[in-house]
Amino acid sequence: MKNILVVGSAGQIGSELTLALRNIYGGDQVVAGVRKTKPSEKLLETGPCEVVDALDKEGLVAVVDKYKIDVIINMAAILSGTGEKNPMLAWDVNMNGLINILELARERKMKQVLVPSSIAVFGPTTPVDNTPQETILKPTTIYGVTKVAGELLGDYYVKKYGMDVRGLRYPGIISHETLPGGGTTDYAVAIYYEAIKNKKYTCFVNENTRLPMMYMPDCLKATIDLMEADFDKLNYHCDYNVGAMDFTVAEMAESIKKHIPEFEISYEPDFRQDIADSWPNSVDDSPARKDWGWKPDYDLDAMTEDMLTAIGEKHKKGLI
Ligand code: SER
Repeated sequence: MKNILVVGSAGQIGSELTLALRNIYGGDQVVAGVRKTKPSEKLLETGPCEVVDALDKEGLVAVVDKYKIDVIINMAAILSGTGEKNPMLAWDVNMNGLINILELARERKMKQVLVPSSIAVFGPTTPVDNTPQETILKPTTIYGVTKVAGELLGDYYVKKYGMDVRGLRYPGIISHETLPGGGTTDYAVAIYYEAIKNKKYTCFVNENTRLPMMYMPDCLKATIDLMEADFDKLNYHCDYNVGAMDFTVAEMAESIKKHIPEFEISYEPDFRQDIADSWPNSVDDSPARKDWGWKPDYDLDAMTEDMLTAIGEKHKKGLI
């Protein structure tokens, strides 16, 4: 049996991952750690919820000891857009929060730590198409700098202390439960909400911007499959590339127009264009496929249909 703590449970990925883990391991086995965002009713009703701040080690220790936590997942991070506005905050949360969690896991001899990474580890000198697993990691955002350091730190704890630390480089994650916050890939979520609400969207990156993306059901599958993979079969630890699909904003708009023909898109690129331009078009995830059987289910059109249906229902109910 595992006792899992998800730090950052109210966030875009954390909120759905916590529920998915509760479905598998049981509600009481998965503690939702939230900082200041109010957790959803679903999170509150399905299992324990605690106020947890990755920067407050004493608070973390209290929750870990109370629930005898032996698996910890760190979903708390300042993303690329917010990071560029406040680099020191990004460094503090992303690095000191991670160190607190890794040290606590070491001190309590935990079974496993999951520390997600991102396509933000890549930079303008990285090969852009089918970006290899092993390649140049010279990001130009503070978020990317903290993610490279986080991957190296996680790998260091594996080697130095024999710990089980794992992580994967998420592409842009698209979902309809909890909005993303402060990322460059947030446009790929906003476009669906605006298509339903206003039938038009002004995008903050240009039409030819192509990035690797993934729909939330695939994100949950990748995360849980990596957590459950046999440690001895892992040739990498904290830095698995995981791909699912890639498309330009113009291609997204075309996919939406198949359902909403009157949808209109316009473009007003801002500082996030440079960030997007520094990231790959697509990634080569063959090590993840080989080592732990990774395979995505959703392509752009399947995701569009699902997103528009789910957001359309929220709109009908007056929730958005
Ligand atoms: N979605 C993240 C961002 O845009 C990338 O990991 O910052």
